[in-house]
Amino acid sequence: MDSLDTALSRLPKVELHMHIEGSLEPELMFELAERNGIKLPWGSVEEIRQAYEFSDLQSFLDIYYAGADVLRTEQDFFDLTWAYLERCRSDKVRHTEIFFDPQTHTYRGIAFETVIEGITRALDEGREQLGISSRLIMCFLRHLSAEAAIETLEQALPWQRHIIAVGLDSSEKDHPPEKFQAVFDRARSEGFLTVAHAGEEGPADYIRQALDLLKVRRIDHGVRCVDDPDLVARLIAEQVPLTVCPLSNIKLRVFDKLEDHNLAELLRAGVCVTINSDDPAYFGGYIGENFSATASALNLSLADIDRLARNAIQAAFLDAERREDLLIELDNWRERCELGCG
Ligand code: ADE
Ligand code: ZN
Repeated sequence: MDSLDTALSRLPKVELHMHIEGSLEPELMFELAERNGIKLPWGSVEEIRQAYEFSDLQSFLDIYYAGADVLRTEQDFFDLTWAYLERCRSDKVRHTEIFFDPQTHTYRGIAFETVIEGITRALDEGREQLGISSRLIMCFLRHLSAEAAIETLEQALPWQRHIIAVGLDSSEKDHPPEKFQAVFDRARSEGFLTVAHAGEEGPADYIRQALDLLKVRRIDHGVRCVDDPDLVARLIAEQVPLTVCPLSNIKLRVFDKLEDHNLAELLRAGVCVTINSDDPAYFGGYIGENFSATASALNLSLADIDRLARNAIQAAFLDAERREDLLIELDNWRERCELGCG
């Protein structure tokens, strides 16, 4: 292992863009299908992995929603979340902010309560047993109606203490942020923070809409901002964080290859970019692999890695004390790297 790999493996990480349903590994999918008496459209784990060839976001979402059908009980949501947290432990993730998509489940007749209780029980145990702090972000599916999003927000109110923010995901093209302005207004008035996927496949204008109409604190993806130089200048001036997911962008063909990714260009221009995994079970890697593949494809320096990790700590929805602790951990890591100990 060379010294950058060692440094990356020891880097204390913060993840800000990870869909819990997207961490469903084929092995667990099979196990849950069996436990719940469900017949999957695939015959084996290998066959599932072979199906993970995507031409764009929609071709992925079709498979992702089919896979999520095995999640039925509170224990299923616990097992899913716990498996992700165990990966966090080996990747040195110290804090994670995960998305969940309640509509993917309530539309199949699974109670909101089943979903949130399984996820939060695992997050609580992760905090106690693994020392991993976490936040939960509830996403609205943008291919569904604004009315359905309002209904989902109302269902979430009794569980609000578990949910820090609302977000917007699923098929971006032709589903602009403005469609969800009213529900985001309502969410903010109830005390939720807001984030949104924008500028993944959709135009730079959707990033502007997310900022101006949905008043988001972070943009998820946002890589298409480069089509609008004034917008890039604004992102830098306002230090709006972008939660970038490099391996996802390659799998969903946002960029042809990792060497073409604009993350380093944005980082060096002063945009507050961060590295995340999106749907790690589908895109060939968790946050650790995203850091190492990106560092090698884009020749990231130790200073670049430090900046990315620092950006994520600054962009996280953390209290001051935890933020300070994580910054100290990062300073210690940097110092150790500079002493040449990796
Ligand atoms: N849901 C899960 N992953 C997503 C992505 N990359 N973009 C939009 N919606 C998603
Ligand atoms: Zn995403």
